[in-house]
Amino acid sequence: MAEPASRGIRIEALRKRYGAGDTAVDALKDVNMVVGAGEVVGRVGPSGSGKSTLLKCLGAIMEPSGGRMLLGEAPIYADGWRIPDLRALRRDSIGFVFQAPYLIPFLDVTDNVALLPMLAGVANAEARRRALELLAALDVAHRARAMPSQLSGGEQQRVAIARALVNRPPVILADEPTAPLDSERALTVIRILNDMARQFQTAVIVVTHDEKIIPTFRRIYHIRDGRTVEEAGEGRTPG
Ligand SMILES: Nc1ncnc2c1ncn2[C@@H]1O[C@H](COP(=O)(O)OP(=O)(O)OP(=O)(O)O)[C@@H](O)[C@H]1O
Ligand SMILES: [Mg+2]
Repeated sequence: MAEPASRGIRIEALRKRYGAGDTAVDALKDVNMVVGAGEVVGRVGPSGSGKSTLLKCLGAIMEPSGGRMLLGEAPIYADGWRIPDLRALRRDSIGFVFQAPYLIPFLDVTDNVALLPMLAGVANAEARRRALELLAALDVAHRARAMPSQLSGGEQQRVAIARALVNRPPVILADEPTAPLDSERALTVIRILNDMARQFQTAVIVVTHDEKIIPTFRRIYHIRDGRTVEEAGEGRTPG
């Protein structure tokens, strides 16, 4: 797990081009963002404006075309990857909530969440305890022994959120995490992300166009034409 010096995110002049020639798409042209340790920042913008592309680059799932990304002081990308083991970076430093839940179909709810700490060497009983604690906070503990296919869409998404949080990574990237949730549960997710950020000095980016949660952000980055514009938000954190 990363030490405090490597907390917080900085993105400088990030670019991503899909394809080449006439059919090339410049999804990110000049993206600049700073997210401090302990901060939850919103990222909003219309469909196709590069929100998922940015998270995939930052989550080391996709290679950018240029620019820089730093975790704390350490560059993870500077016109090329600067980290030899991207799998270890993803496993130890990044909690990813995808636009779809992607739960493992043959593991029950508890084990879907407990798997990551188990892989990190935490004893099975302790990993399950941590999983159940988060499932309870996200109001799905009553489904702990169910299989993913037996859950509603919103329940699956809350399990996926628990999985992203369970190893307390220094960075959490969430792509539309509250889209399938009702108002109350959406605000619970945001409250948990804020609590996590404060308690563990996590840097959190939430991509969204969910009107239910946009008022909770203190800072929001809008994306216009592949470039970032920062705005102060209302910062009304629930609870
Ligand atoms: N694999 C790909 N190959 C080519 N173009 C792509 C690819 N993935 C995304 N794009 C294009 O890049 C642009 C940004 O896509 P991205 O998925 O990042 O948008 P988004 O802001 O997340 O949209 P949404 O709100 O619909 O999820 C879009 O024009 C999209 O068509
Ligand atoms: Mg998207």
